Amino acid sequence: KRFKVWVSRPLFADVLARLEQYVDIDAEAVERVHDAQELKQRLAAVDGAIIGLADRVDAATLVGNDRLRVISNLAVGYNNLDIEALTLAGVLACNTPEVLNETTADYAWALLLAAARRVGAAERWLRAGRWRGAMRFDDWLGVDLHGRTLGILGMGRIGQAVARRASGFDMRVLYHNRSRLPAPVESVCAARWVDKAELLRESDHLVLVLPYTSESHHIIGAAELALMKRGSVLVNIARGGLVDEAALAASLREGHLAAAGLDVYEDEPLVYPELLGLEQVVLSPHLGSASADTRRNMAELAVDNVLAGLGLGPKAGRPPAPINPRVLEARRPGSKA
Ligand code: GLV
Ligand code: GLV
Repeated sequence: KRFKVWVSRPLFADVLARLEQYVDIDAEAVERVHDAQELKQRLAAVDGAIIGLADRVDAATLVGNDRLRVISNLAVGYNNLDIEALTLAGVLACNTPEVLNETTADYAWALLLAAARRVGAAERWLRAGRWRGAMRFDDWLGVDLHGRTLGILGMGRIGQAVARRASGFDMRVLYHNRSRLPAPVESVCAARWVDKAELLRESDHLVLVLPYTSESHHIIGAAELALMKRGSVLVNIARGGLVDEAALAASLREGHLAAAGLDVYEDEPLVYPELLGLEQVVLSPHLGSASADTRRNMAELAVDNVLAGLGLGPKAGRPPAPINPRVLEARRPGSKA
């Protein structure tokens, strides 16, 4: 009998067709939010699932579920998953690392450039028909990137890709991460480790690229914003909950921060209302990995993960991106777990 896999979001048809060569699939045809009750029921009726960040899986979701073997997250970040609960329940969890590093790093620069050079506000102004006659020489002045200091908070693979791009802008790069990178990696990134306070004080442009956990919740709050330079720019391409949005709005309103570029929000899809009213904020709807090639690669990887977690496909038993591989160890014949 074939395994059954639930796909919680519409995916590329050809990628789904490949999945369907191995398993029966139940694929959602429209994008929508599944509440906790529905998620629980869906996951109880399948052997594997490909889900998105809006699907939150915790211990309660898994109560009474003795069928599910693998959850494949369509994202690199997995703050929507309670990994401990999944591990306890013997469910393998997988994500989509690596394939989106460069695309997401590109996007950090898109937001940084747009925020620093006021692209969003200027375009709104132009589209509103307000560019009539002469424009003042000192209108629409932005903040330079070249020659300034770029700070990166969170120096995983995406942070490193953001750093590497800075050399083309002749920027000094500082970073903070819990652990320092090995010297050869620092050297490729041309980046220097500093403590968090120094990063905040020294950066003209600060990009957040760290995972969202209970420790990183509101890692940028009023105190941190106050440490940042007057006139600096903040970009968040990681998770909204890293930033205290009320404090950020206040800092921008008071003119302490010059601008911000945000791709993520604490309560997506809701945007903190005051941010919507601030022209100096560039806002996008969580698009960091959204290039045609990369979204396809993420979908393929999610399929490889779910198949391998079920012991199927070319990578049977060896999922390319397991988060809790201990679950696989425990499944080995002869294991006592
Ligand atoms: C997107 O936010 C991801 O984590 O892949
Ligand atoms: C600006 O477009 C200039 O020509 O200086």
